[in-house]
Amino acid sequence: MIEFRSVTKQYPDGTRAVEDFSLVIPSRKTTVFVGSSGCGKTTILRMINRMVDPSSGSIQIDGKDIGGLEPVALRRSIGYVMQNSGLLPHRKVVDNIATVPLLKGVKKREARLQALELMDTVGLDRAFADRYPSQLSGGQQQRVGVARGLAVDPNILLMDEPFGAVDPLVRSDLQEELIRLQRDLDKTVVFVTHDIDEAFYLGDQVVILKKGGHIAQVGSPAEILADPADDFVADFIGANRGKRALHIEETATGSILVDDDGRPAGTLTGSVPAAGGRAQP
Ligand SMILES: Nc1ncnc2c1ncn2[C@@H]1O[C@H](COP(=O)(O)OP(=O)(O)O)[C@@H](O)[C@H]1O
Ligand SMILES: [Mg+2]
Repeated sequence: MIEFRSVTKQYPDGTRAVEDFSLVIPSRKTTVFVGSSGCGKTTILRMINRMVDPSSGSIQIDGKDIGGLEPVALRRSIGYVMQNSGLLPHRKVVDNIATVPLLKGVKKREARLQALELMDTVGLDRAFADRYPSQLSGGQQQRVGVARGLAVDPNILLMDEPFGAVDPLVRSDLQEELIRLQRDLDKTVVFVTHDIDEAFYLGDQVVILKKGGHIAQVGSPAEILADPADDFVADFIGANRGKRALHIEETATGSILVDDDGRPAGTLTGSVPAAGGRAQP
């Protein structure tokens, strides 16, 4: 469990990126932060692995204040996947994946073997191992980024708009893959996006943010859809809808999530609005 307690981040130039932010992020689930550009998503994410330190307040991981932990060690124990994949262009795929294990002193042979296994995990052909990132498609590069994030076998995987730069078809493949990975590997995934459909698709818990990291609403996709907290949330859900915008329909057998074309996108467990359902592929 990750817990933010009244966290504020003011950058040296005076920008208050995040103000008085409190939230519990449950373990072994996917929590998605969604909000417009500049609302503080990246700042919040980076405070979890101490790439950014809060100006005030505290963050605990499993009951331990991370302010007392060594930042480099913490960073290397938490997976981090960036938007542009962040791959090193002059290093082969396999060496990119093995970057942190090598830094931690894992022997080269062993690190390579682990990296090859991770390529299987994220659905990348091992034949790409000795290529350079520029020789891969955008979607393949993102898979390498995910493999690298998993290379230290972290309990926590942070993902900052990881699929933002790839085309929609590849993106939906990657989203499905992530749901499968989360199910198989049982990680605590903290995911950032500005796309509400992506948030509802991936999130067990969705956190809709306003400027300054203020929480507009937090809940399961079903809870938010069934009962938007205010006009801001209602607008955000409405205005940001893509083609598979989800909504709830009541049927004889219960509430279901359906997309704009009327296709079922998932079922709701329990009754609305106390539902804990999520969209399943
Ligand atoms: N290093 C920095 N120095 C000063 N201001 C920053 C810095 N990083 C981010 N900001 C500002 O903090 C606010 C939140 O930024 P960010 O966390 O990157 O938001 P998001 O990821 O939601 O787009 C923005 O106003 C941004 O300009
Ligand atoms: Mg950002």
